[in-house]
Amino acid sequence: MRDFEVVTVSGEEETKIQYEYMKKAREIVAKKEAELGRNLTYCVHTFGCQMNARDSEKLVGILEQVGYVEGEDEHSDFVIYNTCTVRENANNKVYGRLGYLSNYKKKNPVMKIALCGCMMQENVVVEKIKKSYRCVDLIFGTHNIYKFAELLCRTLESDSMIIDIWKDTDKIVEDLPIKRKFSFKSGVNIMFGCNNFCSYCIVPYVRGRERSREPKDIIREIEGLVADGVCEIMLLGQNVNSYGKNLENPISFAELLCAVNEIEGLKRIRFMTSHPKDLSDDLIAAIRDCDKVCHHMHLPLQSGSSRVLQVMNRHYDKEHYLKLVDKLRAEIPDIAITTDIIVGFPGETEEDFEETMDVVSRVRYDSAFTFIYSKRTGTPAASMEEQIPEDVVKERFDRLLKLVQEISSDKAMQLEGRIMPVLVEEMNEQDASLVTGRLDNNSVVHFPGTQDLIGTICQVKLKECKGFYYLGEIVES
Ligand code: SAH
Ligand code: SF4
Ligand code: F3S
Repeated sequence: MRDFEVVTVSGEEETKIQYEYMKKAREIVAKKEAELGRNLTYCVHTFGCQMNARDSEKLVGILEQVGYVEGEDEHSDFVIYNTCTVRENANNKVYGRLGYLSNYKKKNPVMKIALCGCMMQENVVVEKIKKSYRCVDLIFGTHNIYKFAELLCRTLESDSMIIDIWKDTDKIVEDLPIKRKFSFKSGVNIMFGCNNFCSYCIVPYVRGRERSREPKDIIREIEGLVADGVCEIMLLGQNVNSYGKNLENPISFAELLCAVNEIEGLKRIRFMTSHPKDLSDDLIAAIRDCDKVCHHMHLPLQSGSSRVLQVMNRHYDKEHYLKLVDKLRAEIPDIAITTDIIVGFPGETEEDFEETMDVVSRVRYDSAFTFIYSKRTGTPAASMEEQIPEDVVKERFDRLLKLVQEISSDKAMQLEGRIMPVLVEEMNEQDASLVTGRLDNNSVVHFPGTQDLIGTICQVKLKECKGFYYLGEIVES
């Protein structure tokens, strides 16, 4: 693994260099297409979080720029897996699918296979691929994704496996091509990396230190997106509440939200993820006062036990968390609160788990992602004694899931009969007479409608709550 890049050039110069590589790759692709008498196809498959989803849009942007067309599935000429390593099963999925890919490659001699993303930042993974998955042509990591055009050129010109992984970077490269998955909504990175080192979590090791983008670059990107038809954006970062602290001219996340709220034509602003330790009163006020900011807060709890939270290195306790929820609800009564919870952290006792159940009962989350603790080699929690036996964890997990589901369907019921704004996102996959959209609080609504409604906000009567979604009827568009 390289410690850092070898030659240091500025972000702007790097953008130019990468466009040169795109030009070169386009020539290689055109030549191959002429030889084959058909287009070359690509398939980018994304594992993991919104951050990875946004990265994949950057990969697709470059692939299309150099002439590849979207393939139907992994029987394509260039297949990339953008991987996640937050839990063990994320890794296993990738190994499983690589088995299939090697068979596809035997039937398609021009096929190239690339792996990138968080999993590739782990030495053991790269070693395993080198040894057991020789079908892979290119491996790169999270820090040099902006060099994809260059790596693509090298891969197209070579028959041996190319591996380029860096330990970290301090560079942010702007203005490379991006192809959005949705026409009307988009993720926008506001920062990269994480400095928090929660004791169970691998992310700071594979995503590097926290780096914030300049507000002017963020605003310019969003203005461009709006001009291109986007009406909803999701500001992305592992801990958006610490945005801007390390910039030359520091700015808070609350200030950034207010600036983004001023952008004309933008309709909805979402953000992910807020760390409870950094959730300020200013931010709560900004959510309350900025009309475009959705009344939805994803506030990961992880555990309700103050003792466990301390060992997790989360820097807040149960009381502080509950106080934050009270404050949020006092200022923004209709705010939807969602969370992440880990069950079976090393040393978690029945009493600790009861504390988690207690917080869930008190907060009454609109929805919650529940995870079974997964041991990540290299994190402090992996070497802690008292890993919890599988059967105990499973039993707790089932109890938690039941409670979470009861509460969220109860909460969803409360909106039945109301008329609420819905941003229409797509045609319904099962029933062509319906469109599917989301409420401000992120819940899904299906209602009769046509293609032209996509990207618009309609007033919809929520006629029937079906547990996790609603069936509705348009009142006005
Ligand atoms: N930065 C975000 C979370 C990123 S990871 C935050 O701090 O909120 C998304 C979620 O995965 C985490 O909130 C956590 O609940 C879960 N997670 C992370 N590491 C895990 C592990 N080792 N085992 C199980 N779940 C984990
Ligand atoms: Fe992981 Fe904690 Fe950073 Fe979130 S804040 S990415 S859970 S280390
Ligand atoms: Fe996974 Fe990396 Fe996101 S480990 S959760 S894809 S930051």
